[in-house]
Amino acid sequence: MKILMIGSGGREHALIKKLLESPKCEKLYCAPGNGGISRDAEIVNIGVMDKKGMVEFAKEKAIDLAFVAPDDPLADGMVDAFNEAGIRAFGPTASAAIIEASKVFSKNLMKKYGIPTAKYEVFSDAKKAIEYITSENVAPVVVKADGLALGKGVIIAQSVDEAVKAVKSIMEDKQFGDSGNNVVIEEFLTGPEVSVLAFTDGNCVKPMVSSKDHKRAYDNDEGLNTGGMGTISPNPYYTDEIADVCMKTIFNPTIEAMNKEGRPFKGCLYFGLMITPDGPKVIEYNARFGDPEAQVVLPRLKTDLVDICEAVIDEKLSDLDIEWYDGAAACVVMASGGYPVSYKKGIEMFGLNDDGGVDDAIVYHAGTKYENGRFYTNGGRVLGVTAKADTLEEALKKAYIAVDKIKFEGAHFRKDIGRIK
Ligand code: AMP
Ligand code: GLY
Repeated sequence: MKILMIGSGGREHALIKKLLESPKCEKLYCAPGNGGISRDAEIVNIGVMDKKGMVEFAKEKAIDLAFVAPDDPLADGMVDAFNEAGIRAFGPTASAAIIEASKVFSKNLMKKYGIPTAKYEVFSDAKKAIEYITSENVAPVVVKADGLALGKGVIIAQSVDEAVKAVKSIMEDKQFGDSGNNVVIEEFLTGPEVSVLAFTDGNCVKPMVSSKDHKRAYDNDEGLNTGGMGTISPNPYYTDEIADVCMKTIFNPTIEAMNKEGRPFKGCLYFGLMITPDGPKVIEYNARFGDPEAQVVLPRLKTDLVDICEAVIDEKLSDLDIEWYDGAAACVVMASGGYPVSYKKGIEMFGLNDDGGVDDAIVYHAGTKYENGRFYTNGGRVLGVTAKADTLEEALKKAYIAVDKIKFEGAHFRKDIGRIK
């Protein structure tokens, strides 16, 4: 099969390495890809939002499977564009990807179908939002921009003042553009967070092994929120008992709710959960694989990913038994100095072999460039260094040994991945 991966991050590199394990994968293209991906797949220079360009390329090369990995092209209908052109594509249509693209939609969906989540109110008017926050007079309180905001549209306000400022910057100063036309004001929940990715064909949902993301930039969960600085799988808080509760109260009801709304979801649905004292609740849905969750979940997948993609597209997921490797995986993200605020690009990297890897670990490239046999930094999150082992402790040790082999000026990584609550 000829496969086209759409995207350019560590998640896409993890998907590519897994697809390459399939005997069915004969040729793999990636648009637009990155330096490390160029060592595994043929890079195609088409922008991630260029639906027309992607469809034309897929037709020209007779692509058998297109995989749309990032949130923006999904929300913009790239899967719909492939479908209209008769090209098989993995990922939700725009009408289903709205579960991530609009927090107002997802919160209203959960309320309507009784899926556990934080209590909330929606506002399209800054003045009304501020009146509400002031009259409730509760802190911490969570302020969320409705739309996609590169993972930055959520503010945990520690005081009423801070919440008011957040509303002003989202709704009046349009910090996140039109994503801030509406806001969700939400109850602050506590408890450990768990990420559960699930394959679904719109009828049947098959959760993958669990994981835990570390979103803050610095050790001890200090600093700004990032796209994710490291992950572990499995998540120690996700017991079999909690998994059963989630299946009954969250996973199945969500798939059913999307069907009832006439928006069947096909692809990978990401459940961002919090295990609160009142049980598991949904913090957010994503319409795609998480990054860097994919970098610890996919290495543990035993079943052929191409078979899974086909079963999802053909709505035959219930017939497929999905198997996982026991043990654990850990991923440590190496970022550019200054990320997530401002950082330099184009810094030469040392310690990687010509394939972009190191011994005894898997190096997934995110923001990198490959030129004349050398690798350079090209983004905020640069690499995701993953190791697998029988235990989490060993996986973490192996991942950190591998990280120490890789050098670039300003390199920043967390030292406490998997070691903090
Ligand atoms: P999101 O982009 O929706 O995943 O939110 C980013 C992060 O903000 C989450 O991973 C949580 O750590 C935190 N968060 C979001 N909503 C809440 C909430 N209602 N209560 C507590 N923390 C939250
Ligand atoms: N790691 C969180 C996300 O992909 O949204």
